[in-house]
Amino acid sequence: MDSIVVKGGSELRGQIHIAGAKNAALTLMPATLLSEEPLTLTNAPRLSDIATMTQLLQSLGAEITSMQDGKVQVMSTHGEINTTADYEIVRKMRASNLVLGPLLAREGHAIVSLPGGCAIGARPMDIHTDGLEKMGASIELKDGYLHAKAAGGKLKGAVIDFPFASVGATENIMMAATLAKGTTVINNAAREPEIVDLATCLRSMGAQIEGDGTSTITVQGVDRLGAATHPVVTDRIELGTYMLAPVFCGGEVECLGGRMDLVSSFVEKLDAAGVDVTETKAGLKVKRRGDRPKAVDVTTEPFPGFPTDLQAQMMAMLCLAEGTSVLEEKIFENRFMHAPELVRMGADIDVQGGTATVTGVAGLKGAPVMATDLRASVSLILAGLAAEGETVVNRVYHLDRGYEHVEEKLGAVGAKIERVQGS
Ligand code: EPU
Repeated sequence: MDSIVVKGGSELRGQIHIAGAKNAALTLMPATLLSEEPLTLTNAPRLSDIATMTQLLQSLGAEITSMQDGKVQVMSTHGEINTTADYEIVRKMRASNLVLGPLLAREGHAIVSLPGGCAIGARPMDIHTDGLEKMGASIELKDGYLHAKAAGGKLKGAVIDFPFASVGATENIMMAATLAKGTTVINNAAREPEIVDLATCLRSMGAQIEGDGTSTITVQGVDRLGAATHPVVTDRIELGTYMLAPVFCGGEVECLGGRMDLVSSFVEKLDAAGVDVTETKAGLKVKRRGDRPKAVDVTTEPFPGFPTDLQAQMMAMLCLAEGTSVLEEKIFENRFMHAPELVRMGADIDVQGGTATVTGVAGLKGAPVMATDLRASVSLILAGLAAEGETVVNRVYHLDRGYEHVEEKLGAVGAKIERVQGS
């Protein structure tokens, strides 16, 4: 298995191009199931999770052509489709559950494997299934698979009140509602930019959706959706990750394609930590004000709050801050696995349940480390940028799920980083 080796201490200077969002692409791709006509995504990220979604959609009968080195994905799902999403693919990636709403909307029935838990938490699907049941589906769990059937072969509009603003459930219900009979209202909907991006794409395909980006989304069902070409929104998590890089080791980095509205709560915390973020014509430029960042308290929340997907990276930065910071993880019950690895690099972190208290230290030391999820892995690379000596991050396949060419992007701005091929 490959590993990434980082030698700390080099200042970073230059520009990093931010890719299209993984979590937007992973919900835009299943939208192809809603139409017999082609859906073309531009600005798609080149990631192993995208390859997994491609494999899943192909297994359902979609034709997918990848162009421009994967940046353009042309998808077409015409004719007969298979309505069973197999465990062997679904278990690799939770976002596979995003085919449930589209399959049910198009065919009136679907069998989709439950993805199971993952390293960061149990992640059940009750909000998705309760919503679809309100739309007239009967859903039964048999042999690890959700067997879903719409009464009379067609979903109907409903008023659905989410107990929590789940991103995936908002996406699944919104997609399902585009082809349902009548109007669906989602109350307490998620407001993430990826939801707005999906709604924008669905509208280009002919869907009638209002209120995306607010807590109430209204979808008026239509008979069919057509073709569309849609550019994937910038990845705000990749953006936030690379914005942190010069805070670890000094210098100045411009993140091309970065937008303030995608990361405003994160930028507020950076400002409080002594980091300057300025808007440029091409993106966002980041520079640390002093020699060390300052401690700040962070609580993760649904958008527009501080994103859970930047918590690990922020924790790594706070390990080097002056003072003591308190991080509260409110979205996932087990998302501090990076903490013991950072401690191996010399950090001072005390985790009690969903709260981590980080007392900043003057420096970190390189070490062999390993992470069990994507964001945790990249936080260790960031820590390695500041650490004395060599940090070897193992289990790089997690990283490749969500960051394209991480070693090339950081290497191009001056980091000493390389990928070592494993056996
Ligand atoms: N939840 C339930 N029941 C449900 C759905 C969710 O209890 O039916 C709980 C989850 O267990 C979790 C919380 O609600 O504790 C939030 O889950 P949500 O449904 O909002 O998250 P998701 O759709 O499964 C997406 C991203 C995650 C990101 C979260 C939160 C994709 C493919 N994944 O997951 O991304 O952390 O929203 O913003 O969009 C990542 O990229 O590293 C990643 C984990």
